[in-house]
Amino acid sequence: MDTTTNETDGMELSETLEQLKADTLASLDTAADLAALDAIEAGAVGRESPIAAARRGLGKMDAAQRRDAGRMINEVAKEIEAAVAVRKDQLASEARAAAIAAEGIDVTIDYVSVPSGRIHVVQQVIDEVCDIFIGLGYHVAEGPEAETAWYNFDALNTPPSHPSRLESDTMYVDYGNPEDEMLLRTHTSPVQARYMEQHDPPVYIVAPGKTYRNDTVDATHLPVFYQIEGLAVDESITFSDLKGTLAEFARQFFGSTTRIRLRPHFFPFTEPSAELDVSCFNCDGGESSCRVCRGVGWIEMIGCGMVDPRVFDAVGYDPSSVTGFAFGMGVERLAMARHGIDSIRHFIDNDLRFLEQFPG
Ligand code: PHE
Repeated sequence: MDTTTNETDGMELSETLEQLKADTLASLDTAADLAALDAIEAGAVGRESPIAAARRGLGKMDAAQRRDAGRMINEVAKEIEAAVAVRKDQLASEARAAAIAAEGIDVTIDYVSVPSGRIHVVQQVIDEVCDIFIGLGYHVAEGPEAETAWYNFDALNTPPSHPSRLESDTMYVDYGNPEDEMLLRTHTSPVQARYMEQHDPPVYIVAPGKTYRNDTVDATHLPVFYQIEGLAVDESITFSDLKGTLAEFARQFFGSTTRIRLRPHFFPFTEPSAELDVSCFNCDGGESSCRVCRGVGWIEMIGCGMVDPRVFDAVGYDPSSVTGFAFGMGVERLAMARHGIDSIRHFIDNDLRFLEQFPG
């Protein structure tokens, strides 16, 4: 600034400031958001602004000029800052209103209700049985549904001549050459053999899964059904361990007053073998008209026995150092007994009136 023309300088300064104020105030309305507003504010009163330049010029003025000019600069700066603050409030409340409009829920709008699915009653029973055995220290194991004849039969001490190996009983994928016959597993017992091959004793597992037999559909048979296998192998496992374990399972699954009984039976892979019946939880053996046990008082539930030493041989365990028990149960049969279901066909009919009765 030229100090010899002070009058004109004063005039020029006030004009410059007025111009700055007018321009700035006019541009405030065009600021669309807070960032744009900050930029305008910085341009008018910030470090590099005309106001800052004017303040730097004060040092070259005499005292009286400096006082007048200083007051003028401060007033303009204050007015600009006040106008910026007003616009800032305005932008903030606009942004708030927009956010509320965008995020708000109109509770009066009609909605399409999507029915939630539920777990099939057969899967519910599988989960429940597995949970009970997990509580007893067992692990869950799985195996393939398309199985070799070796794991499904031979490793389980079931000789080639056994009638269950005929095509009339078993569904084959590849049949005829005993070396590489493939079939749809007829029980979950091959998981025993596969698991023992892969793991050293002790073994405590349950193996749930789908099984297949060449059966015609009727009230108690499906060609595709579910089983849960159990296997415990350890040092000095006895038949009492088998009995105690399955009695505990029956109490947890069917109710605390449930009793069990064992009837001698035959399975190629266990010796001795038994069928386990549970006392009828509906009539407890008291009613000849009971719809669950039909007056028998007992419900046939589980095949079981002590693992045959030949099975241990087949999987590479030493039969002189370990013993074990195994059991197998039909999941649909458990579900039918538990819920008083009269036909196994209900499980595959997909009738929602049936399925909805088991919310899980
Ligand atoms: N695998 C037998 C069946 O399908 C059941 C069973 C399993 C029996 C384990 C004894 C031991 O009938």
